[in-house]
Amino acid sequence: MKTVDYKELAQVCASLTEGETDQIALMATLACEVFHADDRFDWVGFYRVVSPGLLKIGPYQGGHGCLVIPFERGVCGACAREEAAQLVPDVDAFPGHIACASSTRSELVLPVFDANGLIAVFDLDSDQPDAFTLEDQVQLQAILDQSFGQ
Ligand code: SME
Repeated sequence: MKTVDYKELAQVCASLTEGETDQIALMATLACEVFHADDRFDWVGFYRVVSPGLLKIGPYQGGHGCLVIPFERGVCGACAREEAAQLVPDVDAFPGHIACASSTRSELVLPVFDANGLIAVFDLDSDQPDAFTLEDQVQLQAILDQSFGQ
C-alpha cells in the first residue's frame, strides 16, 4: 500500500516544473506525479476554465473523464463556482455529483489559481469511501499554489 509523502512530492513537483510556465505542461506533470504517489488516488486530473461558467477536461491520469462540466454541476462545478476546496467523503450524498466512473466513492476538488484568478480545478477521485483528509487538501493546495504562481 503506497501512501504519499508530501514533503517528497512537493520537492519532486518543484524540481520537475522549475522555470516552466506553460499551464498544460504543468498540469500534465502534476497529474502524473500525484496519481502515482498514493494508492488511494484512482483518478487525478484537471478541468480547465475555458469560458465563463464552463469547465473542460485537461490533463489527467486514470480512466475516462467527462469532457465538459458546467459550473452548476457536480463537485468540480461547486469548486469552480465557490472558488473553494470540496472534500466529499461520500459522493452519493453530494447533490448533483457527476459519476464519470461508477467505482468512485469519495472525491477532493481544489481550485487552481494563477495571478489573474481561477484557471482550473484539480480533481482527485478514490474508489475508497472517505479516502481524503484535510492534510491532503492543504498539502495539495500548497503544491498547486506553488506551481501555478499564487
Ligand atoms: N465527479 C466529478 C466529475 C469529474 S470525474 O469524476 C472525473 C464531479 O462530480 O464534478
